[in-house]
Amino acid sequence: MSIVVLDFGGQYAHLIANRIRRLRVHAEIRSPETAVADLQDADGLILSGGPASVYDPEAPAYNPEILAMGKPILGLCYGHQLICHRLGGQVEMGETHEFGAAYLHVHKAEGVLAGLDVRERVWMSHRDHVAALPPGFAVLGATEDCPVAAMGDAERKIYGLQFHPEVTHTVRGMDILDNFAALCGAERNWTMERYTEQTIKRLQEQAKGRNVFLFVSGGVDSSVAFLLLNRALGTERVLGLHIDNGFMREGETAMVERLMKGAGLHNLEVVDASAEFLAATAGIADPEEKRRQIGEEFIRVRDRALAALALDPDEWLLGQGTLYTDTIESGGTENAAVIKTHHNRVGVIDQLLAEGKVVEPLDQLYKDEARTLGETLGLPHHLVWRHPFPGPGLAVRALCSDGPDSESADNGLAHETVAEAQKVAATFGLALDVLPLRSVGVQGDSRTYAHPAVVTGQREWKTLEALSTELTNNFPSINRVIYLLGPTPRPQQNIKAGYLTRDRLDLLRRADTISMEALERHGLMEEVTQMPTVLLPLSSDGVQESVVLRPIATSDFMTADFCPLPQAFLDDVCERLLALAGIEAVFYDITHKPPGTVEWE
Ligand code: XMP
Repeated sequence: MSIVVLDFGGQYAHLIANRIRRLRVHAEIRSPETAVADLQDADGLILSGGPASVYDPEAPAYNPEILAMGKPILGLCYGHQLICHRLGGQVEMGETHEFGAAYLHVHKAEGVLAGLDVRERVWMSHRDHVAALPPGFAVLGATEDCPVAAMGDAERKIYGLQFHPEVTHTVRGMDILDNFAALCGAERNWTMERYTEQTIKRLQEQAKGRNVFLFVSGGVDSSVAFLLLNRALGTERVLGLHIDNGFMREGETAMVERLMKGAGLHNLEVVDASAEFLAATAGIADPEEKRRQIGEEFIRVRDRALAALALDPDEWLLGQGTLYTDTIESGGTENAAVIKTHHNRVGVIDQLLAEGKVVEPLDQLYKDEARTLGETLGLPHHLVWRHPFPGPGLAVRALCSDGPDSESADNGLAHETVAEAQKVAATFGLALDVLPLRSVGVQGDSRTYAHPAVVTGQREWKTLEALSTELTNNFPSINRVIYLLGPTPRPQQNIKAGYLTRDRLDLLRRADTISMEALERHGLMEEVTQMPTVLLPLSSDGVQESVVLRPIATSDFMTADFCPLPQAFLDDVCERLLALAGIEAVFYDITHKPPGTVEWE
């Protein structure tokens, strides 16, 4: 018995299941084309959001009989529009996408909105909207821009919300989902211990007597996966390989080794493959291409290591610590758009997946659940709660470029755009420039690859935040905004050529250590969920470079807020970074996710 989430490709589809499980209700994700017979056991159905419009010819296929099963249904965003469209209401196409915080005026605090106040903060993301209700429905709530932000048919227990109750920005979102779980009469008996037992059983069945070989980066995900596999199959049948890919943090490899051996896991080998990874990515500036090469190099190193160990490939499966979020942003679920290719989802691994040769014990989990699982399995607290570090490591934090005349630098950024953006910044009392390089972002369930704007002037967080939102909402060629910490005035900078070389990586490694140590020294480690330090090939003399600090706070990584940190920290870290030979400017990322992803690539 459970609540089934039908995935229409929204970035938040799996987050819905995560939230339902937090209410201790079992939740599963299924395809919208699932047959009615396979949904008989469900207590209720949630139709997720998604990037399509109900009028798109390529809108996700679904089984319309699902809506006539007589089960409680909650439609979110796209799901809300689909209910309206299918049950006889009218959906109107919108011209522009709207994102961000809005206030819901609750007309009727009943059904899923029971117990809510008359005005509630919610997180909106929409283009189309419900223009006319289907028969039997009443409007439960509206926002300024969206007259039918919540609708319901109490008799049939069918509800639709244009906003996202599953993200933390919707302050009473958990209450809304709780109301729905209660309407469904769902049992509240889901626990991490039960999940662990079920997963151990699943792993044993999937392995069918074979062994599992796994890369252990030292991050939370692969460490938890390693532990769980050891628990499921025994240390004899599991082999961990830690590869120093040259993109690690300072001193990382030694620490991983110490930690694992300390936890009694001696089935871990360590290999230095930095030269191979550097060769595989030499001279590549395109972020997707870099990721692809790194993913493929992982497999080559795996095969070499397996050959050296003389393990029979038919007897050894590949284990991965992939989380659900990793899959969804790589377009891994049926209807999701590709935001960025995850290194666990490149071609060769897809092929192994298709052959059934990959085991991913955490593939249903969110980061917070993987951490809880880690603690359940006895991993040391400080390892479980370490800031996450991406598999391709500093490779996705060292931006590369072919130089000033390259495509990556320009991409048709119009001078008028810059002038218009400068006018907007001026109304906030700030100066602005648009950088001749691009970074990855996410908006409305799709990937963007656009320019960061840099603003300079007075440091007033509320103003900076408002300007950042205004710029990214109104200028499609700007998907990220950074603020100059120092020095002032900003040097006259231009983009220079730069690739993944040992020198640049060493420079970034040092800058990263300086930034993380400062965070620790100022007691900000817990307040900040993650703080990438990013190296930009942005220079006044063609030699020195720039760094960006990207501190964010999030519980699920699907949405994140940039963290405004105290002045004392900013002054301290900026001074130390500028004292580092090779660094000439320090910036601070003031972009939420969306529209900016956590990592720049
Ligand atoms: P984004 O940049 O997608 O990051 O907003 C969300 C979280 O995922 C991490 N991340 C990765 N982790 N391999 C990983 O193991 C990857 O390729 C990868 N890309 C992003 C990122 O550090 C953040 O915690």
